[in-house]
Amino acid sequence: MSGRNLPIDARRLWDDVMELAAVTEPGRPYTRSAFTPRFLEGRAFLAHKFAAAGLQVRIDAGGNLIGRRPGRSPAKGVICIGSHSDTVPGGGRFDGAAGVIAALEVARALAERGHQLEHDLEVIDCLAEEANVYGVSCIGSRAMAGRLTPEMLAYTEPGGESVARAITRVGGDPDRIAEARRGDVAAFLELHIEQGRVLESENLDIGIVRAIVGILRIALTIEGRADHAGATPMDLRSDALCGAAEAILAVRAHAAMTAMEPTGYFAATIGVIEVAPNAANVVPASARLVIDARAERRETMQRFALWVEQDLPRVVAGAGARLERIVVLSDSPHADANAGLCEVVAEAARSLGFSSREMTSGAGHDAAMFSRIAPMAMIFTPCRDGRSHCAEEWVEPEQLAAGAAVLHEAVLRIDRSTKTS
Ligand code: HGY
Ligand code: MN
Ligand code: MN
Repeated sequence: MSGRNLPIDARRLWDDVMELAAVTEPGRPYTRSAFTPRFLEGRAFLAHKFAAAGLQVRIDAGGNLIGRRPGRSPAKGVICIGSHSDTVPGGGRFDGAAGVIAALEVARALAERGHQLEHDLEVIDCLAEEANVYGVSCIGSRAMAGRLTPEMLAYTEPGGESVARAITRVGGDPDRIAEARRGDVAAFLELHIEQGRVLESENLDIGIVRAIVGILRIALTIEGRADHAGATPMDLRSDALCGAAEAILAVRAHAAMTAMEPTGYFAATIGVIEVAPNAANVVPASARLVIDARAERRETMQRFALWVEQDLPRVVAGAGARLERIVVLSDSPHADANAGLCEVVAEAARSLGFSSREMTSGAGHDAAMFSRIAPMAMIFTPCRDGRSHCAEEWVEPEQLAAGAAVLHEAVLRIDRSTKTS
């Protein structure tokens, strides 16, 4: 693999990312949904690689896979680096996985040069970062932040398995979830593809994330009345799916207007719809939608949530249906990176001859959870055409290697300095 003389093995990094990518649901590249057999197969691959790198491997009570290497001065705390290995359905090869493997590569490169850090080092595959059928994301990092509540542990997927049971199945221990909470993290760094097209459009090597948007997920239950699709006149029906359709278009229009306001980044998406009885010849009786809203500022998100509460019922009623229930599934405020760590990442990029810029992440990340308990920073690599959460997701090997080299250099600089404020 061509390119500069970097402190990491670019070929090995790339090959491991491709090998993990091959662990996918057949016929649905690339899919490794949390808690599924495929996900566990990917976990086994990672655990093997962590052990081969000489790391002490464990699964914590929150179901996170952790590879640890003790440092010379453990009292200084732990430098944690990592991301997640679960994917969205039909996702990409790099979202999450690139960050876990890059962290592993940094650990290998340090060991191969016999470099023992002052701090303990942990390489982490955070459990279930993506939105999933259980209804809560960032399960592992939420546990580490002490924010995985008993209510969330009781959430169940449509087949009836609870989050708690699923965590047990992957080796965690929900009864001891409090033990997953971390208080010893000196710094958390996450390498991730940008999942947007800023770096590519500005031809930059590295993104330094200053803030991660807040994410609000709301489930809407819309009720109509099941009737015969043929014998029921158009003016006598209450069609839940038409109510849902009006709600979907209203959310898109309201989000587009909010996004144009000078109040920071905002986006809202409805990517989930369930309808019952889902039969061609029955007027839909009920529909369930999930709104995924992103906001750089808390007040923007609060205004949006109020709009949902106050305006959507009227929109749905206008279509002859009823907005029966509004349930907040999760509400994670925006997260700020640590200014000192951002400076360290910028210096690391500069020292390696890579260009960089600061930016906001419209995507959510485990790093947002870590920011509640430790100084955090994220390193973005470009992403072809900004595509992500799809099989077309792509980063050039040289771009990924550059990100991993900056991660490596940043870890060394953090280890040497105590400045992270
Ligand atoms: O949804 C997100 O922003 C992330 O990809 N989980
Ligand atoms: Mn994702
Ligand atoms: Mn991700």
